[in-house]
Amino acid sequence: MPGIEWDESLSVGIDLIDNQHKMLIEKTNAISEAVEMKRGLEKILQTLSFMIEYTEFHFSAEEKVMMENDYPMLEDHKKLHEYFKTRLNQMVQDFEEEGATVELSEDITSYLTNWLVNHIKGIDTELGKILQEKGFKG
Ligand code: FEO
Repeated sequence: MPGIEWDESLSVGIDLIDNQHKMLIEKTNAISEAVEMKRGLEKILQTLSFMIEYTEFHFSAEEKVMMENDYPMLEDHKKLHEYFKTRLNQMVQDFEEEGATVELSEDITSYLTNWLVNHIKGIDTELGKILQEKGFKG
């Protein structure tokens, strides 16, 4: 599965969030690359663990901005973040149990890529619009 290439269609209009998304995309692409190059279970788990760490950092930062700006959809947005974090941890478990099978690896990379793009273009872009209306400079 080809990696995600950041372009303006992925911008939420807030630099702080865009920059973190770029990093998240980089980490997601690293997983796709590890899978494509058949780098093995250890390397895949390592890249996945880097992504989990950065995802937690990014979600916390985004939730802090939402809280500080009285974002009305905070709870719904947070639930999506929580769900994704649970899925990421489930993926680690699946890899540990099943190994880096082609099927599992491809399923996971396509899930990660699709989830991230849809989340950014959907609910994060909505957040970006409201923050811009509020005059947030990040
Ligand atoms: Fe950028 Fe809602 O995560």
